Amino acid sequence: MPPRPVVPPAVHDSLVLEPRDVRFDWSRLPLHWIPDEPMATHTVNVLHLLLPEGERWFVEVFKDALPLITDDQLREEVLGFIGQEAIHAEAHQEVLDHLLGQGLDPRPYVRQVTWLFRRVLGKRPGLTAAQQRENLIERVAFVAAIEHFTAFLGNWALNSPGLDRAKADPTMLDLLRWHGAEEVEHRSVAFDLMVHLDPGYLRRLRGMLVSGPTLFHLWIRGVRFLLAADPSLNGSVRPTWREAQRIARRGLLPEPSRMVRSALRYFRPGYHPTQEGSSSQALSYLAGSPAARAAASR
Ligand SMILES: [Fe+2]
Ligand SMILES: [Fe+2]
Repeated sequence: MPPRPVVPPAVHDSLVLEPRDVRFDWSRLPLHWIPDEPMATHTVNVLHLLLPEGERWFVEVFKDALPLITDDQLREEVLGFIGQEAIHAEAHQEVLDHLLGQGLDPRPYVRQVTWLFRRVLGKRPGLTAAQQRENLIERVAFVAAIEHFTAFLGNWALNSPGLDRAKADPTMLDLLRWHGAEEVEHRSVAFDLMVHLDPGYLRRLRGMLVSGPTLFHLWIRGVRFLLAADPSLNGSVRPTWREAQRIARRGLLPEPSRMVRSALRYFRPGYHPTQEGSSSQALSYLAGSPAARAAASR
């Protein structure tokens, strides 16, 4: 089959992505960092279970894709994306290590996530060059769909006064909003890379149809796992849909219906990630983030 024509990525403001080498001190983080809200705390904590391995996988996929990029600006953006995601992974890894120190052992779940990203979604041995290319572009499409959700969640984190009202731990809030702001900042890179490598609509469709339900399934399993493994709860809190809706109404989680509507927008033929969230709001948060400011002064 002849190679598909390469089209330039969708036009957007030129982007200079700066990896910010942030550090967080978790020594005083309470196990339920949203006070008296174990289910809300652990629903957000699923991020820490998924992201270290997930974002390391993004980095591997994008490094493999670098030789296929024929647009200099996009290559620079991909390099910036790789730098940011590598730091995100390590920041969330530190929270996982802290949970273990507090008696909540995340390792059984993380082993499954590791297996998924390294074995199921990792590089396949024994493929021809054409098959390798096809497999790589398919994985880029999965990343692009997941990045739609990370940008959605980042935008939510930047606009979630409910977390402040509930007196959520300020260091965790800064982690979530620093990471969320960088997700909004680089939200178009994976999509533009996918379109650069394959402009076909079917690729985008498949990426979301696989990634969306997989992510949802992993999240439900993660919440169940964390609530069962929390040594302070003794299995007393069981996740229910009604409880999730109560928490969302308090502004401690995104409204599920908003999330579904956002996922559906990804299927619009004219969709581009720049239509979601605000780069200026993200950059404004990063200018004031305690962790990002400390990183800039080092
Ligand atoms: Fe990230
Ligand atoms: Fe990202």
